[in-house]
Amino acid sequence: MKALEGVKILDFTHVQSGPTCTQLLAWFGADVIKVERPGAGDATRKQLVDVPNADSLYFTMLNHNKRSITIDTKNPKGKEVLERLIKTCDVLVENFAPGALDRMGFSWERIQELNPRMIMASVKGFGPGKYEDCKVYENVAQCAGGSASTTGFLDGLPMVTGAQIGDTGTGLHLAIGIVTALYHREKSGRGQKVLAPMQDGVLNLCRVKLRDQQRLASGPLKEYSQYGEGIAFGEATPRAGNDSGGGQPGRILKCKGWETDPNAYTYFITQAAAWDKICDLIGEPDWKTAPGYDKPVHRLDKLNKIFNRIEQWTMTKTKFEVMDICNPLDIPVGPILSMKEIMDDEGLRKTGTIVQVDHPERGPYFSVGCPIKLSDSPVEVTRSPLLGEHTSEILTQVLGYSDDEVAQLKEAGATEVVKKAAAE
Ligand code: COA
Repeated sequence: MKALEGVKILDFTHVQSGPTCTQLLAWFGADVIKVERPGAGDATRKQLVDVPNADSLYFTMLNHNKRSITIDTKNPKGKEVLERLIKTCDVLVENFAPGALDRMGFSWERIQELNPRMIMASVKGFGPGKYEDCKVYENVAQCAGGSASTTGFLDGLPMVTGAQIGDTGTGLHLAIGIVTALYHREKSGRGQKVLAPMQDGVLNLCRVKLRDQQRLASGPLKEYSQYGEGIAFGEATPRAGNDSGGGQPGRILKCKGWETDPNAYTYFITQAAAWDKICDLIGEPDWKTAPGYDKPVHRLDKLNKIFNRIEQWTMTKTKFEVMDICNPLDIPVGPILSMKEIMDDEGLRKTGTIVQVDHPERGPYFSVGCPIKLSDSPVEVTRSPLLGEHTSEILTQVLGYSDDEVAQLKEAGATEVVKKAAAE
């Protein structure tokens, strides 16, 4: 039995943030019923299309293990279907623009009336306040949550990161909120509203930068490279380039082949406990005891010199050789891995974090499987549903409509009934 078996999720999500949340819940065993607009569905189905007439990777990689039903929720008959789903399901997850669900006629009050045990979980761009009505995408959240102002180099623009901390990050926050509310419902018998604003989620992931903001009041942030470079600090936490986020100085350093390979680099951390071994490794044994080098605090104004010397050594090795040599010495390093290297990584394939999935329209493709491993609830990744693929079975088996009633719903324009994929 899977951890969340028996939990029914009314998945009213689209694009990335909401779908990552419900995909995770599906991987943990919940029955996730994705409600989509007839004829169109989640807009990502047709965004960044690489295989003509097939659902995009954007969609397929975010919607595994779900069922899809099409309902026009602005059609009166469609609203009735949605009401029945609300009465049947445990959780409604949505990430529409603020107010969209109310405009559809499904306010939190109405949902509670229909099903007092319902948990209603939402992603919005901002929490209550002056920006609460704004539509928000990933990079806006990264900017408003403090990530962009603290990412990049001191002399460059604010920078967004490739990690989707606004969308997938908030999806994770929401999933934790949902599971917590389900646990609470066991005791209270009631559902509740769960809200994960993207700005708040990003800020939560940038917690250490707010820490540094307050430390500035006590003087310069000595572990930042700019301290050693004699550059004054301003009022706000600066961009830290590739400096390590904690008290152990680190940098990205060139490795053998860097001239032609954009990813021939390693991250190298001069953890205090490993200092003596680092000095021996790079051929500077005197630095173990030399005044100005012997204590971590003395080294902070010489980080450029130290890392330049370490880089002379790393440039003689590949990033994997650096890993193989440093790990047995307990020197923390990490190769800069390209997506190509990650996709081919045997270890990640073995653990199911990289999975190959088959799809009737597009054939086999790779995806990121469940990154959280539960020993008693293993995950089997199955393909994303075609638009409306499970409409009939959900209407009849989950909601108890007769075949005639299904035909009437179709007639009324409340739904579309789609045949199963021909290829299967
Ligand atoms: N049947 C009929 N209508 C449907 C429907 C269905 N099955 N599903 C959705 N709709 C309607 C909604 O009722 C809404 O209509 P309305 O504006 O007339 O009330 C509309 O489709 C979709 O709304 P919206 O959410 O505004 O879509 P959008 O494409 O304009 O905006 C976002 C996209 C992501 C910017 C916006 O949804 C948003 O800000 N979401 C919250 C933050 C978020 O999750 N952002 C990250 C996305 S990865």
